[in-house]
Amino acid sequence: MIFEQIATGGCQSYLIGCSDTCAAALVDPEISQIDRYLALASRHGLRFHYVIDTHTHADHFSATQQIGHRLRVPIAMHQASPQPFVDVRLGDRELIVLGRLRIQVRHTPGHTRDSMCLHVEDRVFTGDTLLIGATGRTDLPTGDPAALHDSLFNGLLQLDPELKVFPAHDYKGRTHSTLAQELASNPRLQKRDREEFIEMMRNLNLSTPTHLTEALRTNMTGGKTVAQLLADAAAIVPFMSLDGLRTLADARHPDLIVLDVRERDAYDEGHVPGARHLPRGQLELRVNEELPDPTRRIVTVCEFGRISTLAAATLRELGFTRVVALDGGMKAWRAADFPLVRGREPYGA
Ligand SMILES: [Fe+2]
Repeated sequence: MIFEQIATGGCQSYLIGCSDTCAAALVDPEISQIDRYLALASRHGLRFHYVIDTHTHADHFSATQQIGHRLRVPIAMHQASPQPFVDVRLGDRELIVLGRLRIQVRHTPGHTRDSMCLHVEDRVFTGDTLLIGATGRTDLPTGDPAALHDSLFNGLLQLDPELKVFPAHDYKGRTHSTLAQELASNPRLQKRDREEFIEMMRNLNLSTPTHLTEALRTNMTGGKTVAQLLADAAAIVPFMSLDGLRTLADARHPDLIVLDVRERDAYDEGHVPGARHLPRGQLELRVNEELPDPTRRIVTVCEFGRISTLAAATLRELGFTRVVALDGGMKAWRAADFPLVRGREPYGA
């Protein structure tokens, strides 16, 4: 078996490959690591047959949909998964065939209703059902402490104790443990009585994960994260440095339109000398009257450099081939003590 573990902060993803047939699967991929997964598969000469999420993640952004879509690889999840884009819906005790490898599915609801563990050869990918020294939490949507107790004590922990445990998360830099080690030392597994276990899980008082709403939204619908939306825009937009704009603005370069896309109040409080004002929210509606020449050189400006990137991408889609965005924004411009004009520009922007 070819095996790679890829950590992203506390999130763990796994590349599993059959060394005889070059068939591979990716387990719990994370959105920021797509290039790394593809590069690792290339390095090992593997071809993906499945991208798999062990459950609906609430704490990181899954890459299954993007990879599945881009490579035309089936997305596999448990059949209880609410995602509309899942291609292969798996049930308890079913198998994923990967060349000569057999990945056995164990449905282990508790952390979420659609949680599953994947057992292949000497190891088990436990998702968030069992972590090193902990278990997944049961207080997020579809979590159920009683179900987790059953999944652990009547399911996962009945497997061979020598199996290596590879969880979906570890925040302390550990790679894996074994079922035997977890049975012996995992504090949450010491409460074997069902009622005591439920009581313990109900009283963990964990804080809500950051990006919970966004993670559930994007993981359940396949929609984009805000960061992705910005990255997609940045991929088609060139940028101008603060110094570059300063030089051109100082010279009042006649060919250049500095387009401030913030709201009126922010523009009036201080903008790049000579900047025109066209709020991003009105861009498409006013573009024809404000910017009649699509060949003009335009640099979009906002407060932090994000909205200006989106505005530049929109203008590129509208045919403005020479639009760029300011790298940074007015916050950085002010911090650099570059010149500001307050109020409106003489041409009545
Ligand atoms: Fe999770």
